[in-house]
Amino acid sequence: MNIQDAVVLVTGANRGLGLAFAKEALARGARKVYAGARDPDSVTLPGVIPVRLDVTKPDEVAAAASQLGDVSLLINNAGIGELGSLLHPDAIDALQRHMNTNVVGVLRMAQAFTPVLAAQGGGAMINVLSIVSWFNSGFLPTYAISKSAAWSLTNGLRNELRAQGTQVLGLHMGFVDTDLVRDIQAPKTPPELIVTRTLDALAAGRSEVLGDDVARQIKQGLSADDAFYLQPPA
Ligand SMILES: NC(=O)c1ccc[n+]([C@@H]2O[C@H](COP(=O)([O-])OP(=O)(O)OC[C@H]3O[C@@H](n4cnc5c(N)ncnc54)[C@H](OP(=O)(O)O)[C@@H]3O)[C@@H](O)[C@H]2O)c1
Repeated sequence: MNIQDAVVLVTGANRGLGLAFAKEALARGARKVYAGARDPDSVTLPGVIPVRLDVTKPDEVAAAASQLGDVSLLINNAGIGELGSLLHPDAIDALQRHMNTNVVGVLRMAQAFTPVLAAQGGGAMINVLSIVSWFNSGFLPTYAISKSAAWSLTNGLRNELRAQGTQVLGLHMGFVDTDLVRDIQAPKTPPELIVTRTLDALAAGRSEVLGDDVARQIKQGLSADDAFYLQPPA
C-alpha cells in the first residue's frame, strides 16, 4: 500500500516510534493522520488529529472505530516494555500487563477496525513487533513473551484478513532510540530510519520488514543448530 492519500491511525503517536510514524506519514502525503494517545493533550505534532485512545480500554477503542470510519492504514504501535525476571513474584502481573497492551490491545484494535479497513477496500495494518518475538534473552522476559504472541497474532490476522484484501505487515527490529529502552546501554537505531524502511516495505507490498541488521542476523540464525534462542544470554 502506498501511504500517499491514505488515512492513517497510529496508536501511541505522542512519542517515540509512533510519533516518527505520524511525522513520516504526513511527509509522504497521507490525506489524514489520526494520532492515538492515552492523553490527547500529549500530542503536539502539527497537522495530525489527536484521538483519545488507550488500547486496553474497550470503550475507547469502540468509540475510535465508530468515529474514524475513513481509516485505511492502522499502525498498531502502542506498547509497554518492563525489565524483570520470570522468577520474580511480580512476573505474573507483569506478564498480564504486557499481554493486555501488546497482544490483547492489538487484537482489540484489529477486530474494531476490520470493518473500517474493509470499507476502504482492504487497506493495511502494520504491527510493531520486535526481534524478541523470536527469542527470550531474559532481559525483558515478559515483554518478549508478549512480542512472541503478538507475532503469532500478526500471522493469524494476515491469514484472516487476506479475504478482504488487507495487507498485514509485521515489523521486527532490535533497539530503537526511544524512551522504552532509555536505561539500556546498547547500539540503537533512530526511529526515523525504522519508519522509512517500514513504509517502503508497505509500499512494496511486503508482509514482513526487518528494520535493522540485528533483525536480519537473528532471523537468519533461527534455523541453525545452535540457534540464538537456545544460547545463554550474552
Ligand atoms: N524502542 C525499542 O527498542 C523497540 C524495539 C522493538 C520494538 N519496539 C516497539 O515499538 C513500539 C513503540 O515503542 P517505543 O519504543 O516508541 O516506546 P515509547 O517511547 O515508550 O512509546 C510507547 C508509546 O506507547 C503508548 N502506550 C503505552 N501503553 C498504551 C496503551 N495502553 N494505549 C495506548 N498507547 C499506549 C505510550 O503512551 P504514553 O505516552 O501514554 O505512555 C507511548 O506513546 C512498541 O510496540 C514497542 O514494543 C520498540
